[in-house]
Amino acid sequence: MISKYSNQKEKLNIEEINQAAEEIKKGNLVLFPTETVYGIGANALDEKAVKNIFVAKGRAQDNPLIVHVSNLEMVNKIVDNISPIEKRLIEKFWPGPLTIIFIRKSKDIIPDVVTANLDTVGIRMPSNEIAKQLIERSGLPIAAPSANVSGRPSGTKVEDIISELDGKVSYILDGGSTDIGLESTVIKVNENKIDILRPGKITKEQLEQVAKEVDVDKHVLGQVEKNEIVASPGMKYRHYAPNTKCMMIYSENKSKLISEINNVTKELQEENKKVLVLGSKNNLDKYISKNKWNMGETLDEIAKNIFTLLRKVDKENVDLVVIEGVGEKGLGLAITNRLIRACAYNYKKIE
Ligand code: TXA
Ligand code: MG
Repeated sequence: MISKYSNQKEKLNIEEINQAAEEIKKGNLVLFPTETVYGIGANALDEKAVKNIFVAKGRAQDNPLIVHVSNLEMVNKIVDNISPIEKRLIEKFWPGPLTIIFIRKSKDIIPDVVTANLDTVGIRMPSNEIAKQLIERSGLPIAAPSANVSGRPSGTKVEDIISELDGKVSYILDGGSTDIGLESTVIKVNENKIDILRPGKITKEQLEQVAKEVDVDKHVLGQVEKNEIVASPGMKYRHYAPNTKCMMIYSENKSKLISEINNVTKELQEENKKVLVLGSKNNLDKYISKNKWNMGETLDEIAKNIFTLLRKVDKENVDLVVIEGVGEKGLGLAITNRLIRACAYNYKKIE
């Protein structure tokens, strides 16, 4: 199957969105941008269409998909009771990069394949105009995981993912680079407490404005033991990891951070090994490695660039990629969560 391809980049081309919406209605898959990352979408009410997403991604069937909606009417068909905290979250952060895990209605309209047979369902209302229009014009909730083959970094621009996904979808809506570059914050409300299952652009600090108690699940930065029960199935799977060995180093003390990264570089160079350093713009000229890439200056910039950079490291043929950690404050928690997985938990934190 050859994908129909729209090269509309940021411009809204309603004609093309209408065509993509037709494909959704027919039970086909569409690659589309959101404000976080690209998604591979299908009609969330069509079991067969949703099964094809799992095939296209090579995704484990026990890993549920997020349902994307464009209005609250769609939510009310899936969820019975929206708690006061959930209501406030919706008012404050939707449309936007926040996924809320709700209890499903006993007889809702979503087939079990979407939720991997759980009694909960993850819903989000994206703010990206192309995504909004696609949902609105198809008139259907759209189930969509991040656009990437399972285990690979999520796609933040079509150029990065076209080779692994072309032919697997019926229509590609190209909206240029996504704004945020990391997937949505995934949360669940338990009574008066918010649990962060996956950190993202909506930060712990922002969620604390809605609920007094906000917990970060221990698997956000910690490793999942074999057979351990997790709050979100996605936590179990290998993610974002290049084939090249990566290591993350972090210290709040900038001079310690720079000297540790340089020590590791020197040791490897003495063994005739090749190193690539990924550093923030402001520290880059202090690293002794000649092979070094700029991740960006601010946390927002780093979030936006990191998946594209991780996709490129295997082409460099180095023995080790040393990545400068960014800490856990604000958006830093989400970046650290993705990098720690890219490094297969090879993480050195220096006091
Ligand atoms: O920004 C995003 O969230 C992107 C865009 C396309 O919207 N989507 C995305 O989907 O990242 P995906 O499938 O790559 O990640 C969804 C995560 C997975 O880790 C999954 O386990 C978790 O959300 N999840 C979905 N439904 C859940 C549920 N009912 N309970 C617990 N975790 C759930
Ligand atoms: Mg994903």
